[in-house]
This record gives sequence, structure tokens and C-alpha cells, in this order.
Amino acid sequence: MTTTPAISINGTFFSPEDARVSVFDHGFLYGDGVFEGIRVYGTRIFRGERHVRRLFRSAKVLDLKIVQTQEEVLEEIKKVSRKWAEINNVDLSNNGDPLYIRVIVSRGDGDLGLDPRKCPQTKLVVIVDRIKLYPKEHYEKGLTLVTTAITRTRPDSLPPQVKSLNYACNILAKMDANRENAAEAIFFNHMGYVAEATADNIFIVSEGELITPPVSDGALPGITRETVLQLAEKNGIPNREAHVTLADLYNADECFLTGTAARVVPVTTINSRTIGTGERGPITYQLMEAYVKRTETDGVLIYD
Ligand SMILES: Cc1ncc(COP(=O)(O)O)c(C=O)c1O
Repeated sequence: MTTTPAISINGTFFSPEDARVSVFDHGFLYGDGVFEGIRVYGTRIFRGERHVRRLFRSAKVLDLKIVQTQEEVLEEIKKVSRKWAEINNVDLSNNGDPLYIRVIVSRGDGDLGLDPRKCPQTKLVVIVDRIKLYPKEHYEKGLTLVTTAITRTRPDSLPPQVKSLNYACNILAKMDANRENAAEAIFFNHMGYVAEATADNIFIVSEGELITPPVSDGALPGITRETVLQLAEKNGIPNREAHVTLADLYNADECFLTGTAARVVPVTTINSRTIGTGERGPITYQLMEAYVKRTETDGVLIYD
């Protein structure tokens, strides 16, 4: 079933045909802005407050003065989600495919120069539509990944913690994956440690212990990553954040990626090396199941 996206710009609804931003918007001209990708399961915005908090933390680094408060942004997300249900005549409590929310805050309209002082007001765009889950096969057989020669940006450059509108490095890395027919590419940081994938965080299991690179190694502080670490803790799975090397990846017993869109997805091949047994591992499976369960109960209700 095709659906119509619900879109608001600075609080006003627009049809998909009329939802436009200026060519002088600095998000468009320079990637000067931040964004979030969020899922709605049923009527719950999964970890809505955590996403909005990260949006504001990203904005702080770029010194983007978001006009709205965190509470107002969350209200706007709820409002556009309700609008989506209304225009598509869908009862969200009758769980279909989840919704996907894209929240964008750009520096706003300025002139052709870089100077952010020329942009008097940030722009908040919220887009809501259905999202399809990835094919079941990914979750059963696991993904094939490659490493990329594109280095994660250094922390003293555009910090990888910032979910900015500049994803050019991620796109270059994704091209490396495409060239090798791989699902994703893995970034190293400037010191040679594993950072993350192009749009997902990475975990390994080694001798029963769950390990993921620390954010300071160039990983986005993923909301799914955070959830998985909490679920590991709750389920008594030893876990820690630690440097991960290429050799650690190759010798891992299990490997998986986490992200809002992908959720928890096993990895069974990296650079032609089989990871573990070559099949989805038991800890990966346990966390996949626990994560799906968590999405059914955790989240900000769209209808108060
Ligand atoms: C570079 C990058 N790393 C990791 C993630 C996963 O983060 P989250 O679990 O919050 O979606 C994303 C997706 O937002 C991303 O763009």
C-alpha cells in the first residue's frame, strides 16, 4: 500500500508537493544542520526523548540555536505522526509496518557565504511515513561487510558523535560496500581502531563477552546501541566498551550491527572471512529477540 508522507516545516503542515526548502538554506548549501531517524512501533515513538536529546546535543556542537525546546520538538513529532495516521486513514494501534520519522534542523536561510550569523532562524522539518523492515534473510543468514579506507573523522574535526547533515564520508564508505556487493562498510578511526559502520554501530562477541567500540573511538552514540547495552546488562551478558581491532573482528565468535532502521542484524562475513561459525550466533539472537520485545513496550505515546 502506498502512503502519503506527513510533513511539517517550522510547525506548518505541507503536502509532499509543496514541502520545499530554499536553495539558500545552509543545510542544503553546506550540510550545516543535524538530524535524527526515529521509529514508531504501534503508537509508541521508540526512545523518543533520547533521540530528541541527541538532536540537541548534536546541535550544541554546531552552535545551532534550535528555536523550539526539546519538549516542543517531541510534541511536533507526535503531531506529525498523528497527522500521518489521519491522512492515511490508519489505526496505528493495529500494528502494521512501523513508521519512520526524519527530524532535520538546518541552520536555515542565509546567503551564499559560509557565515552562520547570516542565518537568523533555524528550520525544523519533520517527515513521517511508513518504513519497511529489511528482508528476513538478513536477520537469518547475516550480512556480508567490508572495511573501508575512508577514515572516520577525527574528534578534533567534525566529531562523529554529531549526527550532522554532512554524511559525505559515510556515502563514500557506502560506495566501497556497493562496489564489493557488501551490505555495509566498517570505518576505522584515525588511530586504526574500529569505529562503526556507515549508518549502524558495531558489536562483537568474544568468549561470551559483548564488546563495542567506545564513542570516543568514532562511534555515534546510537540509541539502539544504548538499548542493546542495557538489554545485555539486564540479561546477564557480560559487556564492555573497548577498542576493537581488525583482528578482533576477524576472530570474533559473533558480530552484529545496531541501528534504528536495521535494529539488531547479524554479521557473518567480513572481508571474505567467516565470522564464528558463519551462522547467526546465540547471543546475537538473544539480543535481537530482546530488542524487538523492547520496541513493543518502550516509547513515547503519540496519543496522550
Ligand atoms: C553513523 C551512524 N552510526 C550509527 C547509527 C545508529 O544509531 P541509532 O541506533 O541511534 O539509529 C546511525 C543511525 O542513526 C548512524 O548514522
